[in-house]
Amino acid sequence: MTIISPSLLACNFMQLELEIKELEEVQNIWLHLDIMDGHFVPNLTFGHEIIKGIAHTTKQKLDAHFMVTNPEFYIDTLKDLSLHNFTFHCEVTHAPLELIKKAKKYFPSVGISLKPATPIEAIDEEVWNTVDLVLIMSVEPGFGGQKFMHHSLEKVKQLAHFREQKGLSFSIQMDGGINLETAPMALEAGADNLVAGSAVFKSPRDQWSKRIEELRSSGVS
Ligand code: DX5
Ligand code: ZN
Repeated sequence: MTIISPSLLACNFMQLELEIKELEEVQNIWLHLDIMDGHFVPNLTFGHEIIKGIAHTTKQKLDAHFMVTNPEFYIDTLKDLSLHNFTFHCEVTHAPLELIKKAKKYFPSVGISLKPATPIEAIDEEVWNTVDLVLIMSVEPGFGGQKFMHHSLEKVKQLAHFREQKGLSFSIQMDGGINLETAPMALEAGADNLVAGSAVFKSPRDQWSKRIEELRSSGVS
C-alpha cells in the first residue's frame, strides 16, 4: 500500500487544528511535519510547542522531517511524543548510524534523507541495513511549492534496485513537487511513500481526501 504523506507546510497555519482534523479519518496517510531551523535551510517552521500541539491534536501517524543541523537535540526534546517516523538529513552528520540507533529507541520508524545533489553512495552499508525509510528530496529542501527535479527519479530507481538486490525492506519516500503529473513517475521509479504539500492543501478543502486517493492510485495504469 502506497502511503501518502500530506505536508502540513502547505496548510493555513492560522487554521492548523481545523485543517488537521479534516484528514482525521483518511486511511493510510502520514502527516508530514517539515521542521526547519533557519540554518540547514533558510526557512523556519514549527518549534517544539507547535509540534507538541499537533501530536496532541491527531491520531494520525506523524512523519517528522528534520531539516536542521542538530537532529540529536530533537531526539532528546521530542522523545516523549508519539512521532511515528523521525527523518534527519545525512548531510548533517558523520555518524548517521549512531543517530539512527538513538532515534530507534523512541520512534517506531527512522529515516535518512538525501538532498538532490547527494548521491546514494554517501550512505554506507550498515545504514542501509538499519534504516526504516530513505527520503529522496526532489526539490532543494526549505520551501513548499517548488518544481519537481526529474533527475531525482534516477536515484529512486537505483535505490529500489539496490533494495531488491540486497533483500532490504526500507521504504522509499519522495518529497517535493509531487502532484498528479509527477506522482506516477515517482511510483513507477519505486517510491512507496509520497509527500505532497501543495497538491493536497492548495486544492479546495472538500477535495483533500479525494486528491490523496488520486495521488495514491496515480501509478496504476
Ligand atoms: C520542502 C519540504 C517538503 C514540502 C513539499 O523542504 O521538505 O515536504 O512541504 O511541498 P510541495 O509538495 O508543495 O512541493
Ligand atoms: Zn518534507
